[in-house]
Amino acid sequence: MKITVVGAGNVGATTAQRIVDRELANECVLVDIVEGLPQGKALDMWESTPVEGSDCLITGSNTYDATADSDLVVITAGLARRPGMSRDDLLAKNVQIVKSVTEEVVKYSPNTMIIVVSNPLDAMVYTAYKTSGLPTERVFGMAGILDTARYRSFIALELGVSTKDIQALVLGGHGDTMVPLPRITTVGGIPLPELVSQERIDAIVERTRKGGGEIVGLLKTGSAYYATSAAVLEMVESVVRDKKRILPCAAYLNGEYGYNDMYMGVPVMIGRNGVEKVYEVELDADEKAALDNSAKHVRELIGKVNL
Ligand code: LAC
Repeated sequence: MKITVVGAGNVGATTAQRIVDRELANECVLVDIVEGLPQGKALDMWESTPVEGSDCLITGSNTYDATADSDLVVITAGLARRPGMSRDDLLAKNVQIVKSVTEEVVKYSPNTMIIVVSNPLDAMVYTAYKTSGLPTERVFGMAGILDTARYRSFIALELGVSTKDIQALVLGGHGDTMVPLPRITTVGGIPLPELVSQERIDAIVERTRKGGGEIVGLLKTGSAYYATSAAVLEMVESVVRDKKRILPCAAYLNGEYGYNDMYMGVPVMIGRNGVEKVYEVELDADEKAALDNSAKHVRELIGKVNL
């Protein structure tokens, strides 16, 4: 198993570190355009392997020849948000970056699988899909796991219980229109609405929607990366170990939920072949209206991709 991580910023580097620490590949390549940066971070990580007890060889490169024959490529390249910016403000610049990265990736690994993490997420996955020519099940995006993790972590704080026992799902685009589903959220099997007032649920949903912005506002110089890379790893692990996890990911929709030719967050089964199944959850009228609104927003963004 060979995994490439494109982008040696905070998200890319922590993703590579987690891959190495968990020994999810025999070989991991970290790529970035900044001279020395991927090499330096990769060498530092390699020097951690005797202590960590990992046999994953990690190297850094400024060119894509080093990535040849990757089984999986994680694309984190692109500009990150600064305070006051929405994910959508990044679109024009990041389309160009993700397009050129994808071209290089498939040139050296024509049968690879791609997980996109760059923002605005849903539009960037679409960009990678259109550019790569790969089948839809081999190109997908990370956002729903992060959004759901934030939502779960806030519920755990509210109730003072283990985050482990909170099962939840956040659907839709990765932005302020995302759709957390309290109706089907459970805490140790108990429906959330039996444990938390509607008013508090609304506040948790709102904090989840703005969760990325909350971190940007605190960090000031970039966006979240610990929870982000943890979420990416859940997908990587499900591919590498063929776990068949059911996770919310940005997947290609071909009629599911009534949407066509677009990427958006829905529950999918992730295994060795990528997105092996898309699940359609039954939604009530309000939830469907919220998802329609999110889909409309994602569509507008995809409309601006212009490849
Ligand atoms: C976030 C950014 C990475 O949600 O989209 O933190």
